[in-house]
Amino acid sequence: MTMETDAAAGGSGRDWSALPLDILLISMSCMEVPDVVHSGAVCTSWRSAYGAFRALRLPTPRQPPCLLYYAARTSPAATLYSPSTNATFRVPLPEDRGGGFLASAHGWLFATDAAANPYLINPLTGARAALPPITTLERVKSRSTDADGGVVYDVDFNRISAAPPATQRVTARRARDWMYRQVSISGRPGGAACVVLLLHMPHQELSFARPGDARWTSLSGGLSQLDRGLYSSTVYSDRDGLFYALRATGSVHKLDLSGPSPAARPYTWTLRSFASKCTGYLVPMPCGTLLLVTRVWGRYGEPRSGICRSGTYCGEVHKCVVTEGVQVEKMDMERRRFERLAPGDHALFLGSSSAQYLPVEFLPPSLSKRNCAYLADDVGYDTFLSPISRHDAGVWDFESGSMRKYDELWPLHPCPDSSRSPIWITPSLH
Ligand SMILES: *[C@@H]1O[C@H](CO)[C@@H](O)[C@H](O)[C@H]1NC(C)=O
Repeated sequence: MTMETDAAAGGSGRDWSALPLDILLISMSCMEVPDVVHSGAVCTSWRSAYGAFRALRLPTPRQPPCLLYYAARTSPAATLYSPSTNATFRVPLPEDRGGGFLASAHGWLFATDAAANPYLINPLTGARAALPPITTLERVKSRSTDADGGVVYDVDFNRISAAPPATQRVTARRARDWMYRQVSISGRPGGAACVVLLLHMPHQELSFARPGDARWTSLSGGLSQLDRGLYSSTVYSDRDGLFYALRATGSVHKLDLSGPSPAARPYTWTLRSFASKCTGYLVPMPCGTLLLVTRVWGRYGEPRSGICRSGTYCGEVHKCVVTEGVQVEKMDMERRRFERLAPGDHALFLGSSSAQYLPVEFLPPSLSKRNCAYLADDVGYDTFLSPISRHDAGVWDFESGSMRKYDELWPLHPCPDSSRSPIWITPSLH
């Protein structure tokens, strides 16, 4: 009996709850961020260590990207999967019932509430930052309630500024899936540098705001009719503090949103226009140079329209597609030249919500195969009014020119609903 007690006492070396705080903090700083959060739930002493870890703003090692997705159409919680540790975490997103999140940056998500109003949330800590409501987007004219008590918005679809409004009703539910197309964020919420650039419908225009602002500011104002809208990709470059936006017509705009009167300065470099079966993305390299990545889509199967209720706009079409090619080019902005590039020892993380180009030497073995791109689902456009959800997420191998789906590689079980499909996120505690 004594022996057993001794053995149990010997096990006090393994009584992890009794570890001193500094040891716990050191262990946490060697973990990946989701494991740190998880360990905070183990016992009281680990919970207080987790509190101290956050309060001291201790750094975690280079956190590799994780996939975040919904496992079910109506699940209130999202699933976070870390390919490097093969661990799955449940991430509660309290307000989110039946909707999705669109994008991630700096470990934060751009998400929407039930009335389609956007906000930022750190899914691991639950911290939130407010963004202006949907009704402050220039083309959203009013909010009302339909016969069933649901929220609907009157959206002006007119593309010609002098013409009278061409208003259509869009339900809040539809607005959540359809209105927001791409988001780039210049810094963490709470920091002075946090500007959110939004690419939104109905005409793929740009608006921006800082957390806490009352309104979205449209960037279409100073532009001619021809230069307005039709944006397909935006990116923030922390090298020069500027946003870059690529239009479907093939031109690049440079945006300085830091000053008191920010503007889209159409530094215009017309590259080439993208055929409807191609999507162009801008991706910053670690050195600050921009890459132009072109994803070529092939189609198999007939388009399937979303279900419309009479009198409301439904827009979106789902198409079965496959990725047929991915091409990477380095953009020499000064000499206005392109140069084809093989990613080699860099991994490309790409989707409508993420664009990262990371050296494989800092990535875990499961993400460090050479010459690969980690692709997420995307949204394209057949005409400027018809977004198309493109389901095709997997690892593209540049050498073989082929793709392996994520669910063949990892234990993922995403819901087939496009607005709930996996996106890449690099978790952060701050
Ligand atoms: C990852 O976890 C799943 C179970 O969730 C398991 O079936 C699979 O074998 C694991 N993969 C590796 C490489 O450990």
